[in-house]
Amino acid sequence: MIVRGEGCELVAEDGQRLIDGLAGLWTVNLGHSREDLVEAVHDQLRTLPYAATFGGVSSPPAIELAGRISDLAPPGLSGVFFVSGGSEANETAIKLARRHWVRRGRPGKSVVLAHDRGYHGLAGVTTTATRLQPYHVEFGVGAPDVVEVPAPYTYRCPAGVPCEPESCPVCQGKSLEEKVEELGAERGAAVIVEPVFGSGGVIVPPPGYLARLRKICDRHEALLIADEVITGFGRTGTWFGCDHESISPDLITFAKGVTSGYVPLGGVVVSDELWDELRDPAQRPGYLMHGFTHSGHPVACAVALANIEAIEKEGLLGRVKDASATLAGLIAPLRDHPEVGEVRQAGLMVGVELVCDRETRQRWPIEAGRGRRAAVAAREGGLLTRALLDDILCLAPPFTISDEQLRRSVEILGDAIEATGDLHSRGDGDG
Ligand SMILES: Cc1ncc(COP(=O)(O)O)c(C=O)c1O
Repeated sequence: MIVRGEGCELVAEDGQRLIDGLAGLWTVNLGHSREDLVEAVHDQLRTLPYAATFGGVSSPPAIELAGRISDLAPPGLSGVFFVSGGSEANETAIKLARRHWVRRGRPGKSVVLAHDRGYHGLAGVTTTATRLQPYHVEFGVGAPDVVEVPAPYTYRCPAGVPCEPESCPVCQGKSLEEKVEELGAERGAAVIVEPVFGSGGVIVPPPGYLARLRKICDRHEALLIADEVITGFGRTGTWFGCDHESISPDLITFAKGVTSGYVPLGGVVVSDELWDELRDPAQRPGYLMHGFTHSGHPVACAVALANIEAIEKEGLLGRVKDASATLAGLIAPLRDHPEVGEVRQAGLMVGVELVCDRETRQRWPIEAGRGRRAAVAAREGGLLTRALLDDILCLAPPFTISDEQLRRSVEILGDAIEATGDLHSRGDGDG
């Protein structure tokens, strides 16, 4: 039970202090309990606590924020549609992509291509677009018209290990393009991708992957949706993950870091073309039949404005770059650990994949709870982290983390892997 958050640290019920190694859930990018963000919430609550854009009105913070975000977004994206979180953002993006083709008289173009290991939320279509099987098993049939494509996961490349990204059909986008071709020109509506896969194990696509997807989408008249729910607003050192490849997707979804999680907010940034479609007075029934009770919530928009202002004023994109370099240096020795298969990093997102055999890259059986046991040991040592898919430990601290806190985080993580590894090799196996 966490009872308090102070900067990059959390205080548990029993008084234990923990470094917030995951910034909540890749969310509290500016750290906990900042006065400027708290003030923004209070001021807005006193002025106007509610006016939703779904209700046919707007509010100054919603309008101002939409303008700020479209200024920060890659070129050619000018409209912003607000929702309450990441799942709603991706549901909205998929609906807008399908609507685009319906309005073009091509309603059969409804298939969304989603990557294996991608995580896009857990609402309706997004549950199916999340290509992580544990999220499906208990919920029966999935949504129609979602097709899986392989992930550019070089450590466990579906096209063969060891992967040579320059010639690998998955990394080069050929496998994805074949799927689009199989579907035919009248079926593929959109490709959805995280610039860096988060919950699927911090998978960092090889350089050029997003740019290749952009070209493939253009060739086959499919829209490109970049799910920037984690990467948006600075986590990789640029405002958006797409900025690293200088591409403009058709839709960008965001949530989490836009408010540093102080108040829930999400949204979709749409291309000029889609924005014009949304504003087209000839559309029937006269306005977009989509939205949510908290779309454009003024309190959430006010805290997002304060959050963006702080990132700019305090040069936090630069801080992410510096802290990433420091973290890369600190974590490098872990690559030699006999149980560490791979360490992956993009900005302030790190995944440490544990294996039971480095030669064969064999995974621990799920029952071993290998990563979970290490995460528990790290927590006992003073670091809050998580084991993704049971065997990938991750770090994604607030941007404001100090070098000393980074050093301690890596030290605790290494010690936790070491301590729990001994347990397992003795064959106790029950954690
Ligand atoms: C990349 C990505 N997309 C979408 C979501 C879903 O966001 P939410 O939980 O706010 O619905 C998440 C949540 O972790 C995410 O990491």
